[in-house]
Amino acid sequence: MIRRAVAPGRVNLIGDHTDHTGGLVLPMAIDRATTVELRVSGEPVLTLVSEDEDAAAALDLPVGDPAAVRPAWARYVAGVAAELGTEQGGNGTVSTTVPIGAGLSSSAALLVAVALALGADPGDPRSLARLCQRAEQRASGVPCGIMDPLTSLAGRSGHALLIDTSTAEVDPVELPPDVDVVVVHSGAARRLEGSPYAERRARCVAAAELLGPLRELDEGAADGIDDPVVRAAARHLIGENRRVREAASALRQGDVAAVGALMDESHASLRDDLGVSTPLLDAIVTDLGNRPGVLGARLTGAGFGGCAVALCRPGAIDDGWVVRPSAGAAVTEL
Ligand code: GLA
Repeated sequence: MIRRAVAPGRVNLIGDHTDHTGGLVLPMAIDRATTVELRVSGEPVLTLVSEDEDAAAALDLPVGDPAAVRPAWARYVAGVAAELGTEQGGNGTVSTTVPIGAGLSSSAALLVAVALALGADPGDPRSLARLCQRAEQRASGVPCGIMDPLTSLAGRSGHALLIDTSTAEVDPVELPPDVDVVVVHSGAARRLEGSPYAERRARCVAAAELLGPLRELDEGAADGIDDPVVRAAARHLIGENRRVREAASALRQGDVAAVGALMDESHASLRDDLGVSTPLLDAIVTDLGNRPGVLGARLTGAGFGGCAVALCRPGAIDDGWVVRPSAGAAVTEL
């Protein structure tokens, strides 16, 4: 039997670094995806060959420590197999149209596609997203959140997803027809391993420990924190949760200008209060914001390189990737 699993990447419209503390995010699955085709066998070996990698992932099952596996991309495969407790593998291929290392969740797309190809149940996206999150943490050592795998699993055509990351509840929000979402790559490959991601997460967690649930607070609540770095992180998180809520309701009302203004504000907060932008991303966001027909722009995802996302009138940006809100991951048996 062959299982063919297809899992999309994602772009986050607004709500970054909020998933460290159970906050709100508003991403969408995109029309670029990773495909894993696996001929299932009863053997205790899993071999996957990727179009984009020189060396195959060849794993003895069950997997012990995913972080010890080589080559590096195979750690993600190993993380999923370890979390699923896979004992019987097979042979297969991996191909993708998600740009790798661009901050569009190529790793989450790989994790989700591997999990489905190995027989994971797609009917429970929340549990499966948590499993993929654990798999990525074990594979990479990066304390990433639930946003990316859950978006890949729960995507809805034509919709962004308002996600409460404290419960993993997903509320689809339709995108108005008269706007495009465009991604512009800074050209800087973004790897979270070795980046300040974990340190920024720690700032966010420290802010939540001092103030409690941040999404219920007013921005002024951050003023009481002594440590200026944690105070700034708290300001970002309180504001970003509010912006996600406001952006979701503005989208529902078709007020795309308001959504764009919130995206601009989000970028400034990620740059000034959390310090996760780069000069290149700042320059791209400023340039996009000056173009006619662009409603708003911001860095998207973790930052430290990767992509900017813009909301614009169709045709306003001709040097980026127009991405369409897409359905979530699916698996078929051939
Ligand atoms: C990465 C992580 C997510 C989230 C974003 C920042 O994409 O995988 O869980 O923390 O960064 O919003």
